[in-house]
Amino acid sequence: MRKTRIKSKQRKRFNRLFSTLVVFCIVLTTLFILKDKLFYPDTVIAGQISEENSNNLNTEEENFNNEADKQEEVKNYPVSIDKAEDILIVVNKDIHVDSDYKPDDLVIPDVKFSFDGEHEKKYMRQEAAKALEELFKNAYEEGKYIFALSGYRSYNTQKYIFNNFADRMGEEEANKLSARPGQSEHQTGLAMDITSQQVGFGLEEEFGNTNEGKWVKDNAHKFGFIIRYPKDKTHITGYLYEPWHLRYVGKDVAQKIYNEQITLEEYFGIE
Ligand code: DAL
Ligand code: ZN
Repeated sequence: MRKTRIKSKQRKRFNRLFSTLVVFCIVLTTLFILKDKLFYPDTVIAGQISEENSNNLNTEEENFNNEADKQEEVKNYPVSIDKAEDILIVVNKDIHVDSDYKPDDLVIPDVKFSFDGEHEKKYMRQEAAKALEELFKNAYEEGKYIFALSGYRSYNTQKYIFNNFADRMGEEEANKLSARPGQSEHQTGLAMDITSQQVGFGLEEEFGNTNEGKWVKDNAHKFGFIIRYPKDKTHITGYLYEPWHLRYVGKDVAQKIYNEQITLEEYFGIE
């Protein structure tokens, strides 16, 4: 009789243990599945607006494409591949890259990123990546701790991002912050958005007033980069001030653009 009670107690204890283990496993599995969303929300702030979950873009964008395809295609001024390969390519609201253009020399620059893991936005064209490494090395030597956030984007990724903005604020407002697909320098692999801890690793106009942002503004040209969307040049570039968006053009052109405080459009006389 006593033995049976002990056995029953043991069975109950075993059952409790087993149930706890099952619940633990379920929680662990759920956490694993949701880990990207929970631990790497990667919310990119641009002013008041966020580009959400861009770490999950590769899969999400595929679902999104069907929806995006239904929207009106942007007017296209296709740029030939030869031209797109030119590091001095101008891409803006009037000059577009083909939807299937992808540089064939994309590499991941050896710099600090604000996020972990493999992602297309880590890539840049080889020459630009080398120059970015130099820029980061010098910045760190001078105590300016910058982080790379977003480099190459495919046409479809840009479509996803732009549509996301457009859904929230309408296309006109969205297009002051985000390029339509085919109109983004990010598709050329020659641009990199950078950030710092002081602006919460986001894309904030305030970055321009931080030590890091000021250093980048005063020194980027030495490594072949320009601040592509300067303050007070919206009437020319079509975009609001983006102190974080670095565009590689090579040292000579960057130096001239810096000296004259002009935009790439002004440099080429295509305002
Ligand atoms: N934010 C810049 C304009 C882009 O989307 O390429
Ligand atoms: Zn950018």
